[in-house]
Amino acid sequence: MELERLLQSQGFGSRKMCRKLIQSGAFAIDGVVHDNPRESLDPTGLQFTLDGESWDYREHVYILLNKPEGFECSTSPTHHEGVHSLLPLPLAVRGVQPAGRLDQDTTGMLLLSDDGPFLHAMMSPRRHVPKRYVATTKHPVTSEMLQALRDGVLLRDETEPLAATDVMSLSSHEIALTITQGKYHQVKRMVAAAGNRVEHLVRTAIGGLPMGDLALGEWRYLSPDELLSLPYEAPGTGK
Ligand code: URA
Repeated sequence: MELERLLQSQGFGSRKMCRKLIQSGAFAIDGVVHDNPRESLDPTGLQFTLDGESWDYREHVYILLNKPEGFECSTSPTHHEGVHSLLPLPLAVRGVQPAGRLDQDTTGMLLLSDDGPFLHAMMSPRRHVPKRYVATTKHPVTSEMLQALRDGVLLRDETEPLAATDVMSLSSHEIALTITQGKYHQVKRMVAAAGNRVEHLVRTAIGGLPMGDLALGEWRYLSPDELLSLPYEAPGTGK
């Protein structure tokens, strides 16, 4: 792959901008500057520095972000900052999108990628990818409320009741539950329909993959094993 195209694919700007960066001597491999934008390189496993900052070549990126409150998942946020502002600029430039949305006041696990089939697999209603949440409630948790969530509640504009799985009480005002759909404000509306109110919501796992230790506002790349554990048939993996 030509160097200028390689750099462009990683989100460092237009082809022209990347050409100029390379010609300025900003691009190096193992400390050796490569300043010919037309040089052909095998990108597989390539590690390079740009203005001294290290990068790995990635055909696609798969990112785990612990979303804080006050950030919108939309690419054109209106009332709050967008989650893209929590990522390095090249990741936003290369078109990374969240796999589904969290409300601005919901915190926790968000997957982002620039791999269209991966985003589709994570969000498709037909795949029923499980998403686990912990909800803090305004009123004490009751066994009737837990049972209503397990049995299913009918939400406005829905034709069928929606049920949660693995519903459990964690404390007097806290429950954990898993849903396999991604309807608008689904957990908040389900808890309201079951007679309570969500005061705070955290997503703790997607597709069985737990968020693990990651501070609010922090992000990291998914490991190859984590990616394989998700319900996504990556090309060439035979999954
Ligand atoms: N359900 C909600 O109500 N809000 C979210 O952000 C996610 C699921």
